[in-house]
Amino acid sequence: MKIAIDGPAGAGKSTVAQLVAKQLGFTYIDTGAMYRALTWLAIEQQVSPEDEQALLKLLDASAISLEQQSHGQLVLIGNREVTNEIRRPEVTRHVSAVAKHAKIREQMVQQQRQLAEQQHVVMDGRDIGTRVLPDAEIKVFLTASIEERAKRRFKEWVEKGYQPDLEQLKLEIAQRDKMDSERKASPLKCADDAVVLDTSGLSIEQAVEKIVDLYRKQT
Ligand code: C5P
Repeated sequence: MKIAIDGPAGAGKSTVAQLVAKQLGFTYIDTGAMYRALTWLAIEQQVSPEDEQALLKLLDASAISLEQQSHGQLVLIGNREVTNEIRRPEVTRHVSAVAKHAKIREQMVQQQRQLAEQQHVVMDGRDIGTRVLPDAEIKVFLTASIEERAKRRFKEWVEKGYQPDLEQLKLEIAQRDKMDSERKASPLKCADDAVVLDTSGLSIEQAVEKIVDLYRKQT
């Protein structure tokens, strides 16, 4: 069984997907974490996000993996854990540039499909319903107004000890969505057969319940 959750930045995909997975006993796979891990590595090794060949080399040599733990997903590069590092603002600012390269995406998609073959999954990202798992039994496009998404990110950053600027966050989210939607290689797009779920007025629990309901109706 495969549940695909796509949508723009800050729509609450990872929180909701994680809770749906927990409720159904499925494995949660955060595909954004894989692009973030490569971006983190590129920053560390001073590789330009525009240099596809150098990024490919880095990806080949780096063994990015996701490990499921009872308290969440760990992100590893080789045996280095980078779960928290990949959420840094610097990584967020560069990740869309890294993720636009077709050859990088091919390799990521291959790895993501393999993960979905081995277990029941809730997978979130930008191209899960359209490209990674086009045969997913349930596809959800999770969205919310830009104001709402920026406010959620603001709260998240404050809780992590940063002092973000709301307008700046809004701008960054809009820029990232624009790059993700306008790139040539599998852009962010709602699959034709996806259910659109606008979470603007919904609590996390309500969004989770709607997706679990979709699953129950299917089975
Ligand atoms: O989901 P998250 O915001 O962590 O994703 C970070 C970035 O990774 C996105 O802005 C996008 O550029 C890229 N991404 C992607 N395809 C996916 C998941 C993420 O291009 N399936």
